[in-house]
Amino acid sequence: MHITIETGKTLLVDGPASVTLVSGKAEVFGYVLKQMSRVVIRDGKRMPFAVKENATLEVSLGENATVEEVEGDTVPPSWEEAYKKLATLQTRPTIALVLGAVDSGKTSFCTYLMNKLVMEGRKVAILDGDLGQSDVGPPCTLSYSVTTKPLTDLFNLEAENAYFVGVTSPGKALDKVIEGMTLLKDEVLKRSPDYVVVNTDGWVEGEDAVNYKVQLVEKIRPHIVFCIQNETLNPLLEALKNFTTLTIDYPQTIKQRNREKRKSLRELGYVKYLKNAKVQSIPISWVRIENTEFAGLNKTLGMTKREREICNFLGIKPLHIAELKNKIFVVIGKGRWINPEKIKETEETLGKKVEVLWKGGEEGLLTALYSDEKKFLGIGVLREIDYTRKVMKIFTPVSSGVSTVVIGKVRLDKNLREIPLAGG
Ligand SMILES: Nc1ncnc2c1ncn2[C@@H]1O[C@H](COP(=O)(O)OP(=O)(O)O)[C@@H](O)[C@H]1O
Ligand SMILES: [Mg+2]
Repeated sequence: MHITIETGKTLLVDGPASVTLVSGKAEVFGYVLKQMSRVVIRDGKRMPFAVKENATLEVSLGENATVEEVEGDTVPPSWEEAYKKLATLQTRPTIALVLGAVDSGKTSFCTYLMNKLVMEGRKVAILDGDLGQSDVGPPCTLSYSVTTKPLTDLFNLEAENAYFVGVTSPGKALDKVIEGMTLLKDEVLKRSPDYVVVNTDGWVEGEDAVNYKVQLVEKIRPHIVFCIQNETLNPLLEALKNFTTLTIDYPQTIKQRNREKRKSLRELGYVKYLKNAKVQSIPISWVRIENTEFAGLNKTLGMTKREREICNFLGIKPLHIAELKNKIFVVIGKGRWINPEKIKETEETLGKKVEVLWKGGEEGLLTALYSDEKKFLGIGVLREIDYTRKVMKIFTPVSSGVSTVVIGKVRLDKNLREIPLAGG
């Protein structure tokens, strides 16, 4: 359908939808639309088309998509002030970090800043630190991309490198997130961008979140921290008083997403990075498995004396066993059984937990594949670990050069839908 909007008004489009500017002038988060080029709005996302000169838009709506016309520009004036402030900073590269709660407009603000900067001819790196709602890299990763072109959705960027964390919320992997962000930041600086815009996750409330965010800021050492205004952010702002911070407004017309929508947005991220995937058989002896539980699969000598003793004690012939600092990890055949009494005794004697995985329990786990230079090659879904033939079957678009495999905690079904983990 064609919709005509007057100068100064905004058309809010909730996806899945697509919009083409037929005539007039309109902007999305600072991006000046080109006539006749199509803009896609993903399911779960809202895009504001701010009309600068009477415009006609061709809109096609998918299932449950909606449009609404509102007065004025929905991008707050404080966002433009923030951009101006950033543009006055003279250090190169200038690092800006964005903080805000879940669904507060972090991604949209990053998009806006990036668009404004690239339109001034700047080279901008986006460092995406939001694991659960990543825009650039696959879900469960941290990533970056460097660009000189404006766009409507950061999702259209391809990750140049990524760091796989393997979970969707930072609370479960704080150290990994901090380490990954530090590594990627050092790497991105070598690309000599004019600006680095760092996006973060929306976990900002509570002491743990505040400590984690302060640590992150200390590692990234941004020249300016933009905080999207919200009461829940006050303790964090207080903790950051030694840094240059600037508070900006929360857009009035923001679209909140529920857990289900966030999950389906993530699933679009898996699809984006699993396009053209095939099942690849990777001999375990060719790669390094980073997870300590599975690292020992590579050893050629069979079980150690100590491992044999543990197995005898448990009364099992496992497919795999690994003794780690704080646990004994065993994999046993489908339908096999271990006497719970024996497990208890073993745990008491060794002072370690016994963790049992049944063969097949690895199916669906999200994995990451790296080259030997530690370059992220892509994600995959673990289909099977064949313990007898020592082969891993991974559904992935990566077809060569794999040197390290990291197994994550998120599980996907055959349709790339997330399966909730037992026990949360
Ligand atoms: N100024 C705005 N006008 C209209 N919609 C907006 C605006 N800012 C953000 N949104 C929409 O609100 C939703 C949440 O914003 P987003 O930037 O994704 O938040 P966050 O990254 O903090 O989770 C998105 O669908 C986004 O497109
Ligand atoms: Mg976001």
